[in-house]
Amino acid sequence: MIKFVHIKKILVTGGAGYIGSHACVELLNSGYKVIVIDNLSNSNEESIKRVQKITKKKIQFVKADLLDKEALLYVFEKNNIDAVIHFAGLKAVGESEEKPLLYYQNNVIGTINLCQAMIQHNVKNIVFSSSATVYGSCENLPINENSKTAPKNTYGRTKLIIENFLEDIKKSDHDWGIQILRYFNPVGAHDSGLIGEDPKGVPNNLMPYVAQVALGSLEIIPVYGNDYSTKDGTGVRDYIHVVDLAKGHIKALENIAKNSGYSVLNLGTGRGYSVIEIIDTFKKVSGVDIPYKVTERRKGDVAASYANVTLAQKELDWIAEKSLEKMCEDTWNWQKNNPNGYV
Ligand code: NAD
Ligand code: UFG
Repeated sequence: MIKFVHIKKILVTGGAGYIGSHACVELLNSGYKVIVIDNLSNSNEESIKRVQKITKKKIQFVKADLLDKEALLYVFEKNNIDAVIHFAGLKAVGESEEKPLLYYQNNVIGTINLCQAMIQHNVKNIVFSSSATVYGSCENLPINENSKTAPKNTYGRTKLIIENFLEDIKKSDHDWGIQILRYFNPVGAHDSGLIGEDPKGVPNNLMPYVAQVALGSLEIIPVYGNDYSTKDGTGVRDYIHVVDLAKGHIKALENIAKNSGYSVLNLGTGRGYSVIEIIDTFKKVSGVDIPYKVTERRKGDVAASYANVTLAQKELDWIAEKSLEKMCEDTWNWQKNNPNGYV
């Protein structure tokens, strides 16, 4: 349904985190006013300061938890919020298996609280961070938005539950504009080297692991299996530069300002790279030797996952532009400049 809403002030939940901080840069550079809510459970307020330094613009920061309904309502009451970009959530697959209720409470209940506060204050535009993990086993590649959803872990199930209830909200009230974005594998950093991914402890994900081995803070990369039916036997993924991803959110906001409705889009590049290709490219870009050893497959991993991105290109007029070299270059630049992350 066509509509014309002027979206000016955006509430960014989880805006101190990895993807959220990059989205804040793009929002501020595009002229939006930004208010961030984050409980800093997996981030550092320093990222907000760095975003302000990059953009020379101000962010309103509220340290609060989405589980705190009063705090949420207060934020909506005191601000004229036009739309929400909802990044806040816990995202560690392994931890979600160990502590399922923590994940259901934080991700699902947190989002219900957010939607209730939105309804109470008549804010009906939301962009939601979902994940390619909702697809589960990825039998047919590239994965399009109509592919079967069957998440293999608790984290993925929290994302799918949220997608489903957002769709129900839309069915109950057609004024809502809901954009579900299923990210593939976000990597890289802002090219200022001021913001980037700052995982707590030993990274679970490949790219930050590679960067820390290149830096010398970790010894060797475990390559989880080289007997998959892929080009070189190692896992293949659709890595997308975080700045391209962040720009996709601006396009998604423009889209919901013009159209109400519920839509689901993959955000990826449409190209798959293997673990070995990532290590080799990082080596080339950094000029550093990066040792690795092949180990057992990691439980729950799929051989290959990459997106069909034609729908996002069409609906958002958006395409990921940055190369794998640039993803590695920017990761390395961030890691070298911030060997201990934001601390
Ligand atoms: P992140 O952990 O860096 O950012 C999430 C932010 O949310 C953190 O700053 C954290 O402190 C905050 N947060 C968590 N629970 C909260 C709560 N209850 N109240 C307030 N703040 C809370 O993660 P990210 O990589 O930036 O991911 C952002 C979103 O994208 C997440 O929803 C994640 O599930 C999703 N996603 C991430 C990836 C990825 O590989 N990074 C892939 C697909 C989807
Ligand atoms: N890998 C290694 N060694 C490592 C880490 C990873 O060989 O130390 C391999 C994995 O086996 C996989 C590939 O590198 O083949 C990518 O692994 P990541 O952990 O970086 O990414 P995943 O695709 O497994 O998962 C990520 C996020 C999920 C998200 C999913 C889709 O962790 O939360 O992308 O968006 F759901």
